Amino acid sequence: MRLKRTDLCGVLTKQDVDREVVLAGWVKKRRDHGGLIFVDLGDRTGYSQVVFNPEVDKESHAQARSVREGWVILVKGKVARRPEDSMNPKLGTGEIELMVEDLEILNVSRPLPFSPDDEIGTDEEVRLKYRYLDLRRPTMQKNILLRYRLTRLVRDFMDKKGFVEIETPFLTKSTPEGARDYIVPSRVYPQEFYALPQSPQLFKQLLMVAGFDKYFQIVKCFRDEDLRADRQPEHTQIDIEASFVEEEDIYRLVEDMLVSIFKNLIGVSLKAPFPRLGYKEAVERYGSDKPDTRFGSELVDVSVWASGGSFEVFRKVLEDGGKVKGIKIPDASSLSRKDMDELCRWITLYGAKGLSWILLSSPGPRSSLTKFFSEGSLKRVAQDMGGKEGDGLFFVAGPGEMVNQSLGELRLKLAKRFNLIPQGKYQPLWLVDFPLLNRDGEGNLTSLHHPFTSPREEDLPFLEDTPDLVRARSYDIVLNGKEIGGGSIRIHKREIQERVFKVLNIDLLRAREKFGFLLDALSSGAPPHGGIALGLDRLLMLMVGASSIRDVIPFPKTQKAVCLLTQAPSPVDEKQLRELGLEVRRKSSSSK
Ligand code: AMO
Repeated sequence: MRLKRTDLCGVLTKQDVDREVVLAGWVKKRRDHGGLIFVDLGDRTGYSQVVFNPEVDKESHAQARSVREGWVILVKGKVARRPEDSMNPKLGTGEIELMVEDLEILNVSRPLPFSPDDEIGTDEEVRLKYRYLDLRRPTMQKNILLRYRLTRLVRDFMDKKGFVEIETPFLTKSTPEGARDYIVPSRVYPQEFYALPQSPQLFKQLLMVAGFDKYFQIVKCFRDEDLRADRQPEHTQIDIEASFVEEEDIYRLVEDMLVSIFKNLIGVSLKAPFPRLGYKEAVERYGSDKPDTRFGSELVDVSVWASGGSFEVFRKVLEDGGKVKGIKIPDASSLSRKDMDELCRWITLYGAKGLSWILLSSPGPRSSLTKFFSEGSLKRVAQDMGGKEGDGLFFVAGPGEMVNQSLGELRLKLAKRFNLIPQGKYQPLWLVDFPLLNRDGEGNLTSLHHPFTSPREEDLPFLEDTPDLVRARSYDIVLNGKEIGGGSIRIHKREIQERVFKVLNIDLLRAREKFGFLLDALSSGAPPHGGIALGLDRLLMLMVGASSIRDVIPFPKTQKAVCLLTQAPSPVDEKQLRELGLEVRRKSSSSK
């Protein structure tokens, strides 16, 4: 470069008029008006209009004829006030322009697959393939820069609270967080593997045994699990652990942190302390363990009413010990017969056999239940549920768990459709009183959080005999219907950890083989300790109002766990495999 940049493209104002400056950046737009050539020259701070006028500099004007969108140029010139009629009050630099005296073309560009403006309707696959262009878009630049500011705020906050950031290994042994591990073969020990950590859980506990007292880390975690809009194979956690703490200490710390970062990053005031909701109550009232409490439409048990009609389906379910529950959705009475048929089909995805409904439309209610319930009876349930004209009431019958889940999903679906969710509102809440264990499809006991979560002291005597009733000292933090964090007070005594492993059907031998280092540490003066991890990507996604976690991650993977930019994962050389003592048996053809 012949010249050195003096200023950024988006920050010049009328205060700079008459200054000689050098700008460098990308040509966003170019307009050739014959006599004058205008270029919008941009960088991450915005853009300035630069003007090539043959009367100011013949040579650069001639050169500017060849310049195209996406090229990288450097210009020197004098900042001038724009003529009144071309001022753009919406733009920071809208009152000035740069009269170019010298142009240097730093690089050309091929025609781009899409223009890196915000108004693009480009397919996400194309955006991910050319992520470096997508990242030029102002929204993406804003998101990624906010990500940086968020991590800085967290680090400053934690530092002030006396926490130290300590790194933990990526090449390690599997830690059970409920997903599959990504494994890494070892060359030195052929046919043996490291696992990428699903979280630093065990290491942070060991750091407590080591006496570090207050640990945190902004850290990548790797999980091979089914992906969704808010899940990635590698995500970032704000991971926290502290000694000599109890639940309330963690609640207060996280509340202070979130209040501070919401205020500083997006100017939103959160009200602390955050409300708390019991796990069971959440599931009964919202059909979810991560309830979106920004709107009502809670689940109501109408089993008593349902038993009064002649609807065989309801009767049979109730005889079998199931439940009939309903929700009320404002404005939903406008749904058509076709809409209802579609919803009935959709809800079977969650195991429901069907959906019954009462639409309180004018002049009279419409319902799938008119054959089985008198008009008065339908009115009564509508009244009991607080229904008024215009509302829709929806009912599902079946085993309690399925009823809760399917109505919970329906509640969210219809809330979106009828705009029941207030935009710009942030509703954090703590989910508490979790059971320690739940059962998998085969009826085996598994940890609801992870096996290092402490049972409640008073429930310990029941651990072996009635494990389902034992409560955990764990908590989740939920924001706008998304789980943004989870943690617990841990087991710090070897004997209890061994009992929990046993209840989880991990026999002593296997426990020692897999977690011997933890058990030894617990019997080496482990202090009482506990912590939490917040999902940084999810948190940021909610803060910036993105609909996908991918929009706040610079280089994310698709829902099929592929990096479209680099085409990872990909096969490796025969030589690499040989060094690792591995052989690929059969390459199945999977489409990315
Ligand atoms: P947990 O498994 O609940 O807890 O994870 C903590 C938080 O991390 C986020 N998260 C994810 N974000 C994006 N993609 C994923 N695949 C993904 N998985 C999890 C969520 C979640 O709440 N070691 C424990 C924490 C502890 O007990 O201290 C743990 O990892 O927001």
